[in-house]
Amino acid sequence: MDKKVLVAYFSCTGITKSVAEILADVVGADIYEMKPEVPYTDADLNWMDKKSRSSVEMKDPSSRPAIVDKVSNIMGYEVVFVGFPIWWYTAPNIINTFLESYDFSGKTIILFATSGGSGFGKTVEKLKNSVSPEAKIKEGRILNGKPSRGELASWIKDLGL
Ligand SMILES: Cc1cc2nc3c(=O)[nH]c(=O)nc-3n(C[C@H](O)[C@H](O)[C@H](O)COP(=O)(O)O)c2cc1C
Repeated sequence: MDKKVLVAYFSCTGITKSVAEILADVVGADIYEMKPEVPYTDADLNWMDKKSRSSVEMKDPSSRPAIVDKVSNIMGYEVVFVGFPIWWYTAPNIINTFLESYDFSGKTIILFATSGGSGFGKTVEKLKNSVSPEAKIKEGRILNGKPSRGELASWIKDLGL
């Protein structure tokens, strides 16, 4: 692709990470991992526990888990793929933290996610307020079941970036 592309992702158990790595390789993009300042433990991720960290955060729309470091030159990218696991039918709040950390005006953000089966639901709505109105944010795809390089390449082609 002629455009300069970044694949930015958040992943707790490695599933989104492995998709992000193949995607970055297929696109020829740089890759950036959103590392939480306080890593999520297994107990934090227990969605059956109403008091677990992930349950508490996802019930609080204003929660913004901190990220350790920043993308060094966001200005240099025209297209940013943003990947994450679906939590409670939407994006984890740390994705809002990421989006609110930069000015994405004039850039295209394409979402991708992995899940136990859920789709994006209202994810775009949840994330829209975290980016400037001059940024384009597209739903993209749920990429479950280890997508092949070929599948990813044809998706990228369909996006017509
Ligand atoms: C707190 C929490 C909430 C989740 N909520 C959903 C959900 O609503 N729908 C779904 O299909 N999967 C849900 N999952 C499963 C993850 O989306 C899925 O395992 C994902 O592939 C994990 O990606 P990762 O290894 O990159 O963290 C949830 C997982 C966690 C930890």
